[in-house]
This record gives sequence, C-alpha cells and structure tokens, in this order.
Amino acid sequence: MQEMSSFYPFLSFCSTIPHDSILEIGSAYGGTLWAWTQIFNRVTSITLDGGDWGPLNPHGASVIYGDCSDPAVISAVGNSYDMVFVDGDHDETVRDVELYFPKTKIIAVHDIYTFSSAGWAELVRRYDHMEFEGRMGIGLLFKR
Ligand SMILES: C[S@@+](CC[C@H](N)C(=O)[O-])C[C@H]1O[C@@H](n2cnc3c(N)ncnc32)[C@H](O)[C@@H]1O
Repeated sequence: MQEMSSFYPFLSFCSTIPHDSILEIGSAYGGTLWAWTQIFNRVTSITLDGGDWGPLNPHGASVIYGDCSDPAVISAVGNSYDMVFVDGDHDETVRDVELYFPKTKIIAVHDIYTFSSAGWAELVRRYDHMEFEGRMGIGLLFKR
C-alpha cells in the first residue's frame, strides 16, 4: 500500500518528533497500522469496514469502525495526538484535515501527488508544509 521512497523517510521523521500517539484515518487491511506500532506507543484508527480491501488486522491498534466525518466518531476518538495520518476518502482530504487538526499539531496526508493532489493544493495555501517526495508522496502540515 505504501511506496517506500516517501514512506521510509517519513517513518524516520516520525521517530525524531514526539511519537507517543498517532491517529490514522483510513486503514484498509492494516499495513500502515503495523508501521505505526513500530514507532508510536499508542495507535488509534478510524476506518470503514474493509469492503474490497479485505479484513483489517489492527496489529494492536485501537480501531473505531465508522465514518471519520461522523460527529460521534470525532468525539469518541479523543482530543490529543502527536500526529494524525489522513488516508481515508481522498476526495475529502481537506474536510478530514480541518476536522482533525484540532486534535494534533502535525497532520500527514498520503497520496499528495496522486489521489489527494487537488486537496493538497488547497491545503498548502492554508498551512505551513513539507513534502516527502515519491510517486505518491506524503505531505506534512503544521499549524502556523
Ligand atoms: C487507501 S486505504 C488506507 C490504506 C492504509 N492507510 C495503508 O496504507 O495500509 C483507504 C481506507 O479509508 C477508508 N475510508 C474511506 N472513507 C472513509 C471515511 N469517511 N471514514 C473512515 N474511513 C474511510 C476505506 O474504507 C479504506 O479502508
């Protein structure tokens, strides 16, 4: 699910910042959840049922099954994370960033050169940012 040219440098970056907790939006069968458990002490996921992606292996993460835009889900997930990784509905990347930025200082967005490119173009106008380059790309957004 991840292309390594951007993912490895991104993981290295994660290990250099406070990395107690991460919230992932969109987990499919759990590939990135495994990666987060190697770095973060507390891993939480919000994701829809597997569907075509197949069954989810949470790899020890706490999983909330639901739509990340549901107010009940937003409330249930708590308020404070070192990072939020946005990889859910790529047509709703801007919405998901705005909904979840109150819970963290850093948001990572996956697929910024492909599926989320339109949303990313909007987000870089609003926030300080950096990019881990690769075919798909991972972007970071920081609060000003
Ligand atoms: C690209 S996959 C995630 C891949 C995973 N992060 C990885 O790299 O291993 C997108 C996932 O987001 C989920 N998803 C899509 N829209 C969502 C929403 N509104 N709320 C929560 N999850 C959503 C899909 O069901 C799917 O599991």
